[in-house]
Amino acid sequence: MLRISETKLKQIAEAGTILADDDSFVRAIRDSDGRIWKQFRKKSFPSTAALLPYAKRFVKSAELLAKRGINSVAVRDIYTVAETGRHVVVYDEMPGRSLRTVLEIEGAQHLSDFAQFMALLHERGIYFRSMHLDNVLVLDAGGFALIDVTHVEGFRKALNPWRRARNFKPVTSYAEDRAMLDQYGCSRFLEEYLAASHLTDRARQQFLLHLQRLNDHLADAANALRCDETGVAAKSQSTHQPV
Ligand SMILES: Nc1ncnc2c1ncn2[C@@H]1O[C@H](COP(=O)(O)OP(=O)(O)OP(=O)(O)O)[C@@H](O)[C@H]1O
Ligand SMILES: [Mg+2]
Repeated sequence: MLRISETKLKQIAEAGTILADDDSFVRAIRDSDGRIWKQFRKKSFPSTAALLPYAKRFVKSAELLAKRGINSVAVRDIYTVAETGRHVVVYDEMPGRSLRTVLEIEGAQHLSDFAQFMALLHERGIYFRSMHLDNVLVLDAGGFALIDVTHVEGFRKALNPWRRARNFKPVTSYAEDRAMLDQYGCSRFLEEYLAASHLTDRARQQFLLHLQRLNDHLADAANALRCDETGVAAKSQSTHQPV
C-alpha cells in the first residue's frame, strides 16, 4: 500500500473536483487527469472493517465483478493517508452518468434495461448490497457499470429467491428511486426482471412471496403478480398479512 500525506490529498482535491463530501470529510475527488480518489472512513474496533479494511474489500469486489463479466472500476492504487490512517483507492473514471440522473433527464423507460441487468447480476451470483440508482452507471458506450462496490458478495450459483428479493431493498431505499419505479410501474419492473431470470415456477412464487414480506414498496405489486400466476384472487393487498 502506498502512502500519501493529507496535504498532498488536499492539493489533488483543489486541482480537481470534489464529487462527494460530508462535514469535513471528502469521500470522492476527480483529479485533473480524470481519475477518481475514493476515501474510506476508518471504522473503529470491533467493526468487521478492522479485519478487512473497506479499501481492500473494494478492490476484491472490483476483481470479482471483472471475473464475472460485469463492468466496474479498475483500481490502480491504494493509499494510506499518513496522518489519519484512512485508506484511499484510485481508479479511472468511466465515461457515463448515474442511472438516477439518466432517469431524471430521459424518463423512466430505462428501468426496463435495469430490470434485465439486475436479473443478469443475480444469474451470475452477484449480490450488490448498495444497489441504489446512484451507484449504477449508464455508460456512454452502452451498458451498465457498478461503482461504490465495497459491499459485493459473489456466490458460486445464481442467487436463491430469498436473496434476490432482499436485493430489491436498496433499489427502493431512496424516495427519488421509488418515485421513478412508481412512474414506470412496479409490476412492470418486476415482470421484466422475472422475464429475464431463469426461474422455475416454484422459485418465481418463492421470490414474489419473499418480496411481499421484505419490501413494503413492492409488496402490493409482488402480491398481485403472485396471485395472477397461481390464479388465486388477491385477497389482501396488505404487506404483512400471513399467507
Ligand atoms: N468510475 C466512475 N465513473 C464516473 N463517476 C464515478 C465513478 N466512480 C464514482 N463516480 C462518482 O463519484 C461520486 C462518489 O462515488 P461513490 O458512489 O463511490 O461514493 P458515495 O456516493 O460517496 O457513496 P454512497 O453511495 O455510499 O453515498 C458519485 O458522484 C459518482 O457518480
Ligand atoms: Mg455512491
